[in-house]
Amino acid sequence: MSQGFEGRDIISIHDFSRKEIEHILDVSKKMIPIAKGEAQDFSLKGKILSPIFFEPSTRTRLSFETAMNRLGGSVVGFSDPEITSLKKGETLADTIRMVESYSDVVVLRHPMEGAAKLAADFTEKPVINAGDGAGQHPTQTMLDLFTIWMEKGAIDEKNVVLVGDLKYGRTVHSLACALAKFGANLTFVAPEVLQMPKEIIDYVQEQGVSYSQSDNLEKAIESADVLYVTRIQGERFPDPAEYQKVVGTYRVDNELLKGAGKDIIVMHPLPRVDEIHPDVDGTPHAVYFKQAFNGVPVRMALLALILGVVK
Ligand code: NCD
Repeated sequence: MSQGFEGRDIISIHDFSRKEIEHILDVSKKMIPIAKGEAQDFSLKGKILSPIFFEPSTRTRLSFETAMNRLGGSVVGFSDPEITSLKKGETLADTIRMVESYSDVVVLRHPMEGAAKLAADFTEKPVINAGDGAGQHPTQTMLDLFTIWMEKGAIDEKNVVLVGDLKYGRTVHSLACALAKFGANLTFVAPEVLQMPKEIIDYVQEQGVSYSQSDNLEKAIESADVLYVTRIQGERFPDPAEYQKVVGTYRVDNELLKGAGKDIIVMHPLPRVDEIHPDVDGTPHAVYFKQAFNGVPVRMALLALILGVVK
């Protein structure tokens, strides 16, 4: 079942079966003490990870780097393409060909949808998609699933509300598909213009899970186990005036959460702008900082599996 991980790319959540994702979650759990620095494991000693980031990132890049370092590996990459040869006109294909000769695994974030797939076609080394425009963000989804599983004990049949920018948000594209694979019940809450793209809805429908679309957050959270909040992706709007019309549409605060079940958990891939009031941070509902930590054990598991030191 788990034999096939070594050397694989991680481009889309569709690359993995439910069984494979469950295996990744099991391995991630075992990584927690190492991720916290309470135990040691240097099984990636001598391996090099290249993060090449063409868009801003805090958590994704740092948690990949921490994951690699905790497992004894090294990191050689960049997060500011302005100071690389890209500035001189080098193509993505040439950059990838170079990076492949310097490292064992490439982690790419790029504004263009499909960039990670393209990069994978140019190299034999494994490529991990750390976000391709409004496309997919599969490793974020793994850590989101891990967080739900750890906090709620299961993913199946949980009522999950995804709110915010469902149109341009890549985290919710990958997550909605994965949750459908696991048989969660889904509610997509967004202003009409930011609703989930048709291909994601089609996929969710094919999985046969119960789902609904709405713009009413108060109603949606009444029976939710998980509320997954996202930022309106201002940088992806072709027209800034359109962004101004929808920014600030939803705001999660303690007043709103009074209408939810007492065990609801609130998640967010971060960064947040004003979608979640800081007052929520101190409540047992807030799991977004724990979720951000979970990026470390989950990315450790993925690197160990892909580089073949864990089966
Ligand atoms: C997300 C992203 O880059 O898609 N951030 C992340 O990876 N944690 C979400 C966002 O930028 O809103």
